Amino acid sequence: MKSELESVAWPPDPIKTERLVLREPEARDRTAIIELLASPEVGTYIGGAQSRDDLERTMPEVPRRRTGLFVVALDGATIGTVTLDQRDPNHPDQVRPDLAAVELGYLFLPSSWGHGYATEACTAALTWFTTTHPGEPVALTTQSANHASMRLATKLGFTETHRYNAWDAEQWLGLWTPTN
Ligand SMILES: CC(C)(COP(=O)(O)OP(=O)(O)OC[C@H]1O[C@@H](n2cnc3c(N)ncnc32)[C@H](O)[C@@H]1OP(=O)(O)O)[C@@H](O)C(=O)NCCC(=O)NCCS
Repeated sequence: MKSELESVAWPPDPIKTERLVLREPEARDRTAIIELLASPEVGTYIGGAQSRDDLERTMPEVPRRRTGLFVVALDGATIGTVTLDQRDPNHPDQVRPDLAAVELGYLFLPSSWGHGYATEACTAALTWFTTTHPGEPVALTTQSANHASMRLATKLGFTETHRYNAWDAEQWLGLWTPTN
């Protein structure tokens, strides 16, 4: 019933919203992507920051591209990433893989928080997903203590499906179902 994300034509044309552009990573995004992954604030609820030195050493000149990974740009500056990833039903840590085949993720630079950019970008990514996979639901997991992420999930229309403990914290699993 649920088709594979990998089967879509990728990349799509850049997606333009009122203020943002969602597109594939390019060489000019490398610095901001390292900043995102090395930021202690960004990493607070997702396992911590990665080593900047390691990132500088290992990240290719053009950051790795994959189906469902969008860089988000504001006036040409990279402010975050939005991802739609296939969930692995066979992974031992996977929770309720029956509910949705694909999961939404988001990371934004702290300097961009509080302006509605994450809401705008995720809404555009979900709209793109619905166009390519009509009627399919999307899952989202976040620590329930991650209030900004929980607010965003609720604003996007995710509804609570399950709470469980993993990685020493309570996790929230939400489900988004397209309305048309
Ligand atoms: C989760 C995260 C993306 C949320 O970012 P955010 O900036 O708070 O989210 P939004 O872009 O939706 O901005 C929301 C705020 O902008 C404000 N805002 C200002 N202008 C706005 C506009 N034009 N439209 C909408 N909201 C606007 C709103 O008041 C809103 O605050 P509220 O929710 O208290 O009402 C961000 O905290 C983050 O990157 N965290 C680190 C990574 C992370 O934990 N990811 C989750 C992994 S599961």
